[in-house]
Amino acid sequence: MQISFAALDIPKTGVVVAGVIEDGVLPPTTKALDEQLGGLITRTLKGGRFRGKKDQSLMLLSPAGSGLDALLLVGLGKESALGALRSEALGSQIYAALAPHGHAEAYVALDALAGTPVDAAGLAASLGLGALLRAYRFDKYFTKLKDEEKPALGSLVIGTPEAARARALFASMATTADAVAFTRDLVSEPGNVINPATLAEQARSLADLGVEVEVLSEKEMRKLGMNALLGVAQGSANEAKLVVLRWCGLGKPDAAAKKGKKGKRAADKGGDGEAGADSPLAFIGKGVTFDSGGISIKPAANMEDMKWDMAGAAAVIGVIRALAARKARVNAVGAIGLVENMPSGQAQRPGDVVTSLSGQTIEVINTDAEGRLVLADVLWYVKDRFKPKLMVDLATLTGAIIIALGHEHAGLFATDDELAERLTAAGAAVGEPLWRLPLGEAYDKQIKSDIADMKNVGNRSAGSITAAQFLKRFVEGTPWAHLDIAGVAWTTTDRETAPKGATGFGVRLLDRFVADNYEAR
Ligand code: BES
Ligand code: MN
Ligand code: ZN
Repeated sequence: MQISFAALDIPKTGVVVAGVIEDGVLPPTTKALDEQLGGLITRTLKGGRFRGKKDQSLMLLSPAGSGLDALLLVGLGKESALGALRSEALGSQIYAALAPHGHAEAYVALDALAGTPVDAAGLAASLGLGALLRAYRFDKYFTKLKDEEKPALGSLVIGTPEAARARALFASMATTADAVAFTRDLVSEPGNVINPATLAEQARSLADLGVEVEVLSEKEMRKLGMNALLGVAQGSANEAKLVVLRWCGLGKPDAAAKKGKKGKRAADKGGDGEAGADSPLAFIGKGVTFDSGGISIKPAANMEDMKWDMAGAAAVIGVIRALAARKARVNAVGAIGLVENMPSGQAQRPGDVVTSLSGQTIEVINTDAEGRLVLADVLWYVKDRFKPKLMVDLATLTGAIIIALGHEHAGLFATDDELAERLTAAGAAVGEPLWRLPLGEAYDKQIKSDIADMKNVGNRSAGSITAAQFLKRFVEGTPWAHLDIAGVAWTTTDRETAPKGATGFGVRLLDRFVADNYEAR
């Protein structure tokens, strides 16, 4: 859908969207429209329940005596609450209200209002973003859509007194929205289309934006000793891959100087030396392209959902794409462990013991607790090779996080309070909320093994926390946070700014986290 910005106007034709403030107060343009329509809006407000509250809307088709095809009244709520997120929700609501009517274009009259936390340009841009995110569709596999089933609304024109500034603000938002859509596409694709190799190919497309892309094969991972990750993949006919994405917005650390200082080996390994000013931020994603559970096989009901067990990896691809697309002045690494978890005669057995890249041994009690096995090796690899400033992993790791937090918050675990606070603030700012859960020695005890350094599951209690404790054993001293996104990567109902399906959770959050805290200006 095309979003554009134009001068504020009182249109006489077409489809018009006009706001009403809570308690039926009309902003100037809506008031002018009301006069042009002989008091239609005032009469409408008297007659029914529409009072301009947030989330309220009212569609009037072909109002008599006017040349308008339709007038959509939308509730702006209270001015004091009309910030960026409310405005996104408004854009989303406008798109959803207009879509079924089949008009191709609409004009939104958005006045500057006193007392809003965001100015007119910001409101207009956010409204456009909300509409764009809500207009996302994954419909490539429908071959029989009738015209009336296809989305008709192709253009939303937002009228604002600050059109030029709104246009500029929106341009960078649209870049992020593109990355969100890319992530949603990857998550929506079924497991027969997206497997480790094809997902790696998708990640490779970021090279066009100046991202350095490396894809490690099973052979290379075996040589390194990534047996925790490889054990998960061993039952699948599809080879595992490890993808490393590097966005060097601050330029690359001087390789020659490094060679002199650190000796040849560090340079050969592509090591970045000690964590320092240039050391990257690292984002790590769980990329299980299909999680059948393996030999500890899952029940049939809803197993198809497990095609999106790579949502963490897709979010990492998305955020690196967003950073590169807007040439963010920051160094960032994205690393994703790509495997398919399948049962077969070759598959890993419950009770198997694997030696992870870190050297620590793991007793695999349950082959369905595979995400932590994959992340264990990727976290260690990233920490060791890049000496990052910090590491944030994203993973659809546990069903237990859905029991704890439902679909409203992602779980946050962190070894560093400042990191946790920065992530929480970024999530709140973009409508991807996080809720922090504890880590602690008492939980860690649950993963003691009788035969190895640890086992991959605890008992039934605190399943998301014991999973996080497991990961923590692979990050050593690096500031680290883990986002358990199992409850938020996918939605079964339309939401503000995400139609039902893949949400792209994490892309906007991390993009904002970087922009607010780490970008050189
Ligand atoms: N991918 C699942 C987690 C998951 C479950 C995400 C449901 C979304 C919805 C993960 O690999 C898994 O199977 N976890 C197990 C862990 C258990 C065996 C300790 C779980 O949550 O049941
Ligand atoms: Mn699993
Ligand atoms: Zn899984």
